[in-house]
Amino acid sequence: MLGLITLGPQAYQLHAPARSPGAASHHRARASVRLVEAEAPPKRETAGANNDLIPEEPTLNDWINNMPIAMSKSLARTILLSETKEPEPLPGIWDWFWDAMPFLAAGKKGEPLGLGDVARTFKTNIEQIFGNIPAPDKAPLAAADVEGLDFKAIFLALKTYFDRYGSVYKMCFGPKSFMVVNDPVIARHILRENPENYDKGALSLVLEDIMGKGLIPADYETWKKRRRAIAPGFHKLYLQRMVSEFGQANANLIPQLLKAAQEGRVLDMEERFGSLALDVIGKAVFNYEFGSVNEESPVVKAAIRTLGEVEHRALTPAPYWKIPGANSLVPRLKEFNTDMNLLNDVLYSLIDKCLEDRNPEELEDLKNKDYSKVKDPSMLRFLVDLRGEEVDNKQMRDDLITLLIAGHETTAAVLTWMTYALSQDAQALKTVQAEIDEVIGDRYATFEDIENMPELQKVLAETLRMWPAPPLFIRCALEEDVWPEGGTGIEGGCKLARANDLFISTYNMGRSPQLWENPNTFDPQRWDRPFSNPEVKGWKGYDPNRRPKGLWVQNLEIATDHALMPFGAGPRKCVGDQFALLEAAVSAAMLLRRFEFELEMPNGPVKPEMLDPNNPDKSVGTVGMVSAATIHTATGLFCRVKERFPGATDLPPMQDPNLKAPAPDDAPEPALVS
Ligand code: HEM
Repeated sequence: MLGLITLGPQAYQLHAPARSPGAASHHRARASVRLVEAEAPPKRETAGANNDLIPEEPTLNDWINNMPIAMSKSLARTILLSETKEPEPLPGIWDWFWDAMPFLAAGKKGEPLGLGDVARTFKTNIEQIFGNIPAPDKAPLAAADVEGLDFKAIFLALKTYFDRYGSVYKMCFGPKSFMVVNDPVIARHILRENPENYDKGALSLVLEDIMGKGLIPADYETWKKRRRAIAPGFHKLYLQRMVSEFGQANANLIPQLLKAAQEGRVLDMEERFGSLALDVIGKAVFNYEFGSVNEESPVVKAAIRTLGEVEHRALTPAPYWKIPGANSLVPRLKEFNTDMNLLNDVLYSLIDKCLEDRNPEELEDLKNKDYSKVKDPSMLRFLVDLRGEEVDNKQMRDDLITLLIAGHETTAAVLTWMTYALSQDAQALKTVQAEIDEVIGDRYATFEDIENMPELQKVLAETLRMWPAPPLFIRCALEEDVWPEGGTGIEGGCKLARANDLFISTYNMGRSPQLWENPNTFDPQRWDRPFSNPEVKGWKGYDPNRRPKGLWVQNLEIATDHALMPFGAGPRKCVGDQFALLEAAVSAAMLLRRFEFELEMPNGPVKPEMLDPNNPDKSVGTVGMVSAATIHTATGLFCRVKERFPGATDLPPMQDPNLKAPAPDDAPEPALVS
């Protein structure tokens, strides 16, 4: 699934400026650093006490040339300089104004959020910044010179503030703010213990044109109804059949990788994993062959461009697509609408076709079908045939496109970062390959195989810890709330007002020294060691004994008590968690069995200007990170593909145990390794 980043319609655009030469050479020096522990995180600063953090007053030139940056500098100065001052009440007219304007009144409990609620969050921020009046939230106010921050990777910018301000802080852009949560106890409270109090806020705005009322942006009532229908679709027999589909999709990719290996070519594996995931999800969701691993069709191009537009919207501070007339004037919106029309035509015709031979069945009957034999195992077929859940075609389309988008890029990102991490860690690669050789060898994988592969699961868990997809969850408070203290050190916890926007940074939590030993080190074996920290009040820590038997990565929010939530937590948890885990595991097993991937960036390590000079994470040194819906590499994951067993890397005609098809008598024994 995705979690997208938008600063909301009121936010300011912050341009990442050119780096200073000093910053560039700093990065060149560390560009080849491997995935090892970075130096100790910087000491947490009390900003006001440290003059170094206070940016210089922006000059007239700054204001003329780059107003947003000048504004942020000026704001940061005001915040930092006022930290040591006594509160200064704002002029009397200020309070009068807020009391006199009826449209600025705060909404009452139970009422939908209104303008007054949003305005009041601005009021609190203005009073805090300019009057130095403590805000009820009690969170440190993050202030910094944003000049050095790379807003292409906003989660990295938030990491810099995390190192400075700790596990909860408030970030202001002008009067607008959002809280940034980097604490497992608060995350548990928001997602699991009090989820009705929050909706997806700005995320819904970004997604509504594309996903309509699909699960991710849907209003609560629609979400409840559709979640109840869709979740049972991911039942065990469906997943078993999907494991077979994953195998088939990889079988299409393997000959291409083999050819590249034989010709000594370098491939962008990030792009290849994107195509693989698109083929898988097309088949799984509506039994549609994108065939994107092998060809470029107009539908594939439209699908890829649409996914690109989702990302673009997520990264754009202002909702430009809402501006009247923009859809007919802005070329990228015109293209987007044409693509959307094409995709909608395909989707609606698939839905119509499926409805033609609708065969309504009870849920239990659908769940007990022999999916190893059915011709169309798709989620669409399941939803159409599910008795009692009749919905219109539009809702069906919204459901399906949401699954398509949510299930595409996330899995591709996990495969990309896993390949990157293993290309840097020979020991981890050797361990996981030994397990793959032993458990699966050359045949297709089964559900049960993956359950019996702890090493592979540890690698996936570790990948998701270091590069979670998405790196940020977005929420907005619908009612007031008081957060637990957790590891924040804020006595009594933060008090949240209605309409407060917030990010839960799963990226920061994955890299938090409060929650992990050597957090910047890729170490799959950590998943065998318990870890706890009494400083984080109310946090149970990680205990491998809380992992279920079999597949466990999808339950890590329980085993880590919400320090790692690879698939979210609570009722809005990923509906495709097991599906995704199995897909990533099957692909990893089939590819790592046959190939080695050596990182080979055609233009050398990522150029320094693509990296954030403030980012302490050395693991971005070679490929860089940018955010989209998930974390992407900055330029692609270019790998020289090598055969693991030269001359023996074909897919033998093998039996797919998932389909229960009898093997032909003359099928040769699979034989890559003796
Ligand atoms: C490794 C791959 C995946 C990862 C890491 C992942 C992660 C997540 C996360 C973290 C959330 C919760 C976000 C939040 O609370 O804001 C989520 C939600 C969701 N995911 Fe996934 N996801 C993956 C694959 C998939 C797949 C394959 C599908 C569908 C086939 C899918 C469908 C969804 C949907 C529909 C939601 C929204 C659920 C709801 O609100 O009820 N995801 N995912």
